[in-house]
Amino acid sequence: MTATPATTPEALKLDDPATLAEADPTDFLSAVEGLPAQLGEAVGLADAAEDLPDVTGLGSIAVLGMGGSGISGELCRAVLAPLAPVPVATLRDYDIPAWVGKDTLVFAVSYSGNTEETLTAFRQAAARGARIVAVTTGGALAQEAAASGYPVVAVPGGLMPRAALGYVAIPPLVVCNRLGLAPGIDTAIDEALEVAARRAAACHRSVPAASNLAKTLAGRLVGRLPLVWGSEGTAGAAAYRLKCQLNENAKVIANWAVFPELNHNEVVGLYHSETIPAPLGILVLRHVGENPRTARRIEVTTSLIADSVDFVEEIWTTAASPLARLLDFVVAGDHLSTYLGIARGADPAPIVVIDLLKAALGS
Ligand code: PA5
Repeated sequence: MTATPATTPEALKLDDPATLAEADPTDFLSAVEGLPAQLGEAVGLADAAEDLPDVTGLGSIAVLGMGGSGISGELCRAVLAPLAPVPVATLRDYDIPAWVGKDTLVFAVSYSGNTEETLTAFRQAAARGARIVAVTTGGALAQEAAASGYPVVAVPGGLMPRAALGYVAIPPLVVCNRLGLAPGIDTAIDEALEVAARRAAACHRSVPAASNLAKTLAGRLVGRLPLVWGSEGTAGAAAYRLKCQLNENAKVIANWAVFPELNHNEVVGLYHSETIPAPLGILVLRHVGENPRTARRIEVTTSLIADSVDFVEEIWTTAASPLARLLDFVVAGDHLSTYLGIARGADPAPIVVIDLLKAALGS
């Protein structure tokens, strides 16, 4: 494990504006660079939402959404778990569980507003009398929610959903705060805005690969199968987000896991390296608030599987709050995955197969 990854030829290519322009013709990287500003804007949009539901007797919070919108549920679950007085769950399917009912606060989140699974789950929640808030740019979700009198946090369109994380993930947090369900989140949001801006500046295209962690790690991952490990808590949600961004932005398969759970399964497959299909690059997302036993597990695990992998690199955050830690990882990972697409010569923007799937399913 090295503290400062070596700069590769693939990473150095990322310093060349012509390479960026050629592999990223729609300038998807600009949307990635815009996330910190979007986070602040999203706070204002959620603050303006009116007619929020009453939370008397609330028993649970559920966030409905798929893919780039569903990640908002992971973020809320991870960030609200230590704060909210009721359990928080992410629901990414057509059918909602039996416990969702009148005492559930449901966030129905779909950037397009037309995602089949989210709409089906939203309609089920409405039929059960759940207290619903919609977060969307429009589509059927906006229309149906407004027609039923549910508040709608209307967010700006024109982005790929995965580049709209601020718009889809911040409103549920702000609404929970306004409803008294997220004590202390104000301070965490302020810290997150600062930390995200700082990370985005450090990962910016203008920062050379030699001092740009996102570019150097992207360069190292070319030709390798990425595994992303979260140390624990919000780092687990960030690991899942990075795995999804590697899929969609870099167009590669990737896996993710979280400590301490991965010590009870994934590590066995890694240790028996004869079945590993490609050189592996492991990224470990780490933070200063780790349980010391988790920190020890990371040390022991990386030493036990050292012969099975090409490299293990750590991405650290020193942020104090779980939200700021998560967004610090998200900004680093969004840049890294976009740079990996560019370094591989794969346009980071299109998601052709998702479009084909939706067209084939008429959804
Ligand atoms: O990245 C994507 O485009 C997808 O993962 C979408 O977010 C997903 O298909 C759900 O669509 P929406 O975010 O519009 O609800």
